[in-house]
Amino acid sequence: MGEKAVFAAAAGEGFSAAAARFRAGPCHVVLVKDVRAGAPEAFLTPDELSAWSALKVPKRKNEWLGGRLAAKLAGAAAFFPGVPLREIEVRRELTGSPFLVCRGERRHVSISHSAGVCAAAAGPGFLGLDIEETAPRHPGWYRDYFSPAEREGRDDAAMTALWAAKEALFKALGLGLACDTSDADLSGPEPVLRGRALARWEELGRPPFSLEPFDPGPGLEGRIVFAKQAGIKR
Ligand SMILES: CC(C)(COP(=O)(O)OP(=O)(O)OC[C@H]1O[C@@H](n2cnc3c(N)ncnc32)[C@H](O)[C@@H]1OP(=O)(O)O)[C@@H](O)C(=O)NCCC(=O)NCCS
Repeated sequence: MGEKAVFAAAAGEGFSAAAARFRAGPCHVVLVKDVRAGAPEAFLTPDELSAWSALKVPKRKNEWLGGRLAAKLAGAAAFFPGVPLREIEVRRELTGSPFLVCRGERRHVSISHSAGVCAAAAGPGFLGLDIEETAPRHPGWYRDYFSPAEREGRDDAAMTALWAAKEALFKALGLGLACDTSDADLSGPEPVLRGRALARWEELGRPPFSLEPFDPGPGLEGRIVFAKQAGIKR
């Protein structure tokens, strides 16, 4: 199944962590866990530092920070080699969709967190990634979010992977869960878009895209969606 995340000790501007890096098509993917931020001001911008300081829930604080670190490392690898991480800012659209700004340039990034792992991918404008912990879920989850054809013959791990694929696709479209989960039918070999997801894809010029698996580690499923051609603007 796709690329496998191999974690190794990493340290940099004000942080230490276990980090894994790989390429998925044109995208640079970075996963981090066990992040220790001894000096967060060394890799966060002043605005990021105050946003992070305002967060109160420890789990959210950790995933927010890990997501920013992964996004900056992916952005540095893809677009801004050698640039100090505190000069790469992660901002969000009103929809919640993240993007990078560095030295006047704006670039695309996608972020996900699950079970203590934070992942990000930087690359072309049409890009989304999702990691998700495999777990048995309430029967309503299967019924409400998937069609009978999508559920057919899939175990918990396969359903988790399907969920990650839908979220990655909706993130690439910039919609998140602002559209219906049935707007992406993933029962067949190729995704079929409907409703709001189809309208958004058409608005973006119907970019051909790949949907690929990657392995974020034990108990997790990962999926990434990226445009097959460069130059897609969001
Ligand atoms: C996006 C969404 C599908 C993520 O689901 P999730 O499995 O809970 O969370 P994940 O860890 O996989 O992803 C979270 C990341 O998705 C990104 N994201 C949020 N909305 C997004 C969107 N519309 N498009 C693309 N990416 C989005 C963010 O970077 C977020 O991380 P951050 O909050 O640390 O910046 C879901 O949270 C959603 O649609 N939310 C509704 C939109 C929303 O809440 N907007 C916030 C307005 S301020």
